[in-house]
Amino acid sequence: MGIEDILMHDESLFSNINAFDPDYVPPNYNFRDSQMEAMAIAIRPAMSGGQPSNAVVLGSPATGKTTAIKKIYELVEKNTEKVVCVYINCQLHTTRFGIISQIHKKMFGHLPPETGVPFARVYDKVMKELQRTGKSLILSLDDVNYLFQSKNANKLFYDVLRAYEEYPGVKTAIFAILSDLEFKYVFDKNVDTVFIPQEITFPPYSYSEIEDILRDRAKAGFYPNVLSDEVLEEIAMYTVDNGDLRTGINLLRNCGNIAEANASREITMEHFNQAIDSLVSVNVLQILDSLTDIERSLLELIVDSKENVTAGELGEAFREKEKVSYASYNRTLDKLEFVRLIDTKYTGSGVKGNSREIILRFNPDDFDI
Ligand SMILES: Nc1ncnc2c1ncn2[C@@H]1O[C@H](COP(=O)(O)OP(=O)(O)O)[C@@H](O)[C@H]1O
Ligand SMILES: [Mg+2]
Repeated sequence: MGIEDILMHDESLFSNINAFDPDYVPPNYNFRDSQMEAMAIAIRPAMSGGQPSNAVVLGSPATGKTTAIKKIYELVEKNTEKVVCVYINCQLHTTRFGIISQIHKKMFGHLPPETGVPFARVYDKVMKELQRTGKSLILSLDDVNYLFQSKNANKLFYDVLRAYEEYPGVKTAIFAILSDLEFKYVFDKNVDTVFIPQEITFPPYSYSEIEDILRDRAKAGFYPNVLSDEVLEEIAMYTVDNGDLRTGINLLRNCGNIAEANASREITMEHFNQAIDSLVSVNVLQILDSLTDIERSLLELIVDSKENVTAGELGEAFREKEKVSYASYNRTLDKLEFVRLIDTKYTGSGVKGNSREIILRFNPDDFDI
């Protein structure tokens, strides 16, 4: 098929290509009932003029945290006007002014003027409005670890959670959403005097949950019979072994694109394998880009070496080439293994360590090395 045929081929496999977008909110959202319930319990008092509770929402990437917040906000807004639901993506908004501006936007329908207005003015306007209307504020800070890279986080938590001291009657709560579980400790240490949250945990999805979710998503995005159970299972298995739910959703889309480019009416195993290959090569490319000069130099030497070269032989050649110490060679080799560009395999002969065989984990012909 020519390039033009690919571009002009108008029979699509996608009934809704947006179903695979990162910001798509699925109508069917299962397996998170208890977490949604916990959020509802934290917010509920605010619906009748009471004090809402703070929460930390914890879970690895792609466990449905952002989706859960969006869903619960939708429900709250459908049922009451008493709660102002503000969602902040902390990768986009990291300053106090940026965040109070988003709150302003939600309440007044527009951002405050960019320049000339100090934080305190906007803050005062927001809090007075909450006081006047008797509405509560639920502020969700998604990926809140990004806030702590600037020193603004602590202040912002005080601004929001202590507002009632200066503006009596004002009710506020923060939902802090966190993917980086190691970060939790830093977080606790920094805000624990004002922020006493309840924890809501999002555990990783099981294989069968992943398969269910992906099947649902395929139904939302593809025409019937485009994706067989067999290929769906392969995608789900790959997802569980090598990534998270996001990987699976991306794979669905890529499989669809590849099948479509081949003018196929369904996604085959061959399309799946192609999609995996391109996924892996994007990965390898990213890793290659991140290597230091010395790491790259060692990798080039491995690519040019005979098959089954041992760590000992390679070390001699490398120290000749780069004039580095044995320890530095070992560290560099470990790094390449750690990022999974190479494997090392004990052969069981010779000096321990030196007899390891070096095996490339990718095909250098596919890359510019
Ligand atoms: N229970 C679920 N049902 C359907 N889709 C889900 C579910 N959980 C997560 N997803 C999807 O997985 C992707 C990642 O979810 P997201 O809420 O962004 O995770 P997190 O915020 O925890 O990283 C999104 O495309 C989302 O639609
Ligand atoms: Mg998220």
